[in-house]
Amino acid sequence: EKGGFDWFMRKEIFEQPRAIADALLGRHDEAGQLQLDEVRISDDELRDIDKIIIIGCGTAHYAGLVAKYAIEHWTRIPCEVELAHEFRYRDPILTRNTLVVAISQSGETADTLMAIRHAVKQRARVLAICNTNGSTIPRESDAVIYTHAGPEIGVASTKGFLTQLIACYLLGLYLAQVRGTKFGDEIAGVVRELAQMPANVQTILDDAESVYALAQRFQGTRSVLFLGRHAGYPVALEGALKLKELAYIHAEGFAAGELKHGPIALIEEGLPVFCVVPPRGRDQLHDKMISAIQEVRARGALTIVLAEASDTEVAAYADVLIGLPTVPTLLQPVVATVPLQLFACELATLIGHDVDQPRNLAKSVTVE
Ligand code: BG6
Repeated sequence: EKGGFDWFMRKEIFEQPRAIADALLGRHDEAGQLQLDEVRISDDELRDIDKIIIIGCGTAHYAGLVAKYAIEHWTRIPCEVELAHEFRYRDPILTRNTLVVAISQSGETADTLMAIRHAVKQRARVLAICNTNGSTIPRESDAVIYTHAGPEIGVASTKGFLTQLIACYLLGLYLAQVRGTKFGDEIAGVVRELAQMPANVQTILDDAESVYALAQRFQGTRSVLFLGRHAGYPVALEGALKLKELAYIHAEGFAAGELKHGPIALIEEGLPVFCVVPPRGRDQLHDKMISAIQEVRARGALTIVLAEASDTEVAAYADVLIGLPTVPTLLQPVVATVPLQLFACELATLIGHDVDQPRNLAKSVTVE
């Protein structure tokens, strides 16, 4: 049943190329035009949307954080991201032209369900991004994009998360197409990049052994930090969450720009710091991230740098370099998350924890 793997989680990590391919299947034509049949909200209604609020819990919330960068960039619709339980109890401003996007692997998380019920009552439109066919959240939503990852058994989400990212990108591109905020060839260009993702993720999986060696090296570690900027920031949060959930060690993700405003005080000799470096582009993100790495390294941190494999500039600041395929900045979370999943899974295994059933956690939490 685990297909030769020790854990469902590890099996599910290795299923991600196929899961991503399935999430993309049938959702665009040869020319890169998007087709999302399950979005039962008319094009006219989608053109009237003036605000998007993305809600979810845990890993699903982090998928929403990534989605905000992409959706705002492609559609220019203001987009907020919020934890479902915070959204529900703060009297959010919702109108008929608000699109609430509820992300949930299980489709049964009570916090997210109560939040969409509140949104429906306020007459907002609700779109679910969900992995479980016929579950409660999509049933109570106006529209659904299923992630098609297949059953996810491991409590810590892996293929669920990556396919949530894919669904969010598809939604953003679809909105851009309907509203005409991006030219067809630009959309088709991103679709082509998405189509490369199964192969890109596979190249990282092919090199899993080097991440496992890293886990071996950090077995006695009591604390690990993760830094990222822009779309790499949610990746840092997700990397930290996976370590907390599976290895029960203190881990925190920070936006790299926030370091100097507090967290840098935590840096001490030998502290492992994972740094997610955006691709080298025309913008300044890459350079800013390099400065952050220099700052923590100057204070004794051991830097584990995730960057484009071809990024020679960053290599000088990396104690350990994990090479990533070259992809657009907005899509980088799809590849950058995978080594962090492998690291957490392997470290927890070495420590001797039950990776599929971490203590105190449940796969879907059906109480508020
Ligand atoms: C938590 C799970 O309880 O619920 C997390 O342990 C998950 O792994 C979160 O990310 C949200 O679950 P769902 O099913 O709504 O995506």
